[in-house]
Amino acid sequence: MANKNILKSIKDYKNQDEVWSYLLLKSKNLRLTRGNNLYLDIFLSDATGMIAGKIWDNAKEINDKIDIGMAVGVKAIVEEFNGRNQLNIEKIVKIDESEFDDKGFSWELLLPTTKKNVDQLWKNIQKAIANIENPFLKELVEKIYSHNKEDILKFPASMKLHHAFVGGFIEHIESVLKMGFAAIENYKVNKDLVVTGILLHDIGKLNELSGFPNNIYTDAGNFLGHITIGYSMIHNEIKKIKKFPKELALKIEHIILSHQGKYEYQSPKKPALPEAIIVHYLDELDARMNMYKQAVENDVGDNKWTSLSNYFRIPLYKESHKGDEKENAKEKK
Ligand SMILES: [Fe+2]
Ligand SMILES: [Fe+2]
Repeated sequence: MANKNILKSIKDYKNQDEVWSYLLLKSKNLRLTRGNNLYLDIFLSDATGMIAGKIWDNAKEINDKIDIGMAVGVKAIVEEFNGRNQLNIEKIVKIDESEFDDKGFSWELLLPTTKKNVDQLWKNIQKAIANIENPFLKELVEKIYSHNKEDILKFPASMKLHHAFVGGFIEHIESVLKMGFAAIENYKVNKDLVVTGILLHDIGKLNELSGFPNNIYTDAGNFLGHITIGYSMIHNEIKKIKKFPKELALKIEHIILSHQGKYEYQSPKKPALPEAIIVHYLDELDARMNMYKQAVENDVGDNKWTSLSNYFRIPLYKESHKGDEKENAKEKK
């Protein structure tokens, strides 16, 4: 199989390149050519992009051997078609992780990853923690963030819905935090409660989800959900902090329990504090904006509008998204 030195990422493919790559199989469809021969039409992705591919020989047999969501090793020729690269695939094989470890395979090559600079996001969050004035809230957040640092840097924020990529959790938290500062200023609410609420509202996700490569619900996730898990993580940590004021504990626990806003969204309480209302709506806003972005990016055609098959169930206007991509490119530098 492939030699590490010649492995290529999708973003580096050039017309007529012969490439070896590890890719993730996103979709597959058996189709008929005009001459009535079967071929396999597939989509592949890695951490740098997505590409269409065609398999002309043994399409039926290959179709039976590969499944969507699988890591595959691909040998192919890059061909430009209608202004876009696609792959003419000569060989495609299922990757067994243990077998290919020493040949340059790692899930990180394949998984969608935040386009933001994670170290910078972590620094921004650390600065916000350092600026928490209430010593009890500060100790609470410091402890939870330092104990869970490794997961916080890598975890997605959900299984599918929003920020479902490596680094998605921290990208989501930092984004809500930035909006939180504007809301604190505008509504003159308790800064420490809003900041703590934002930093901790989804902390239960670190146990609700398995993380990558599978990123599925854990048993605790299915039995309890991230609101309940987060509440007990925070409740236990508060108990360890001496003389933590009772009412302050109730307020922060309330923000966690009410952050999804509605009983039907699995929140056992509705927001009853201005700080809880802020956390709920900013959380919701950030999730929706990311779902829009995802829907537009996944709709690969050149159309101006997406199809209806997205969370919002309406065609979404695609042009508005282009400015956002330029922003990300700047930030990554
Ligand atoms: Fe949540
Ligand atoms: Fe959230």
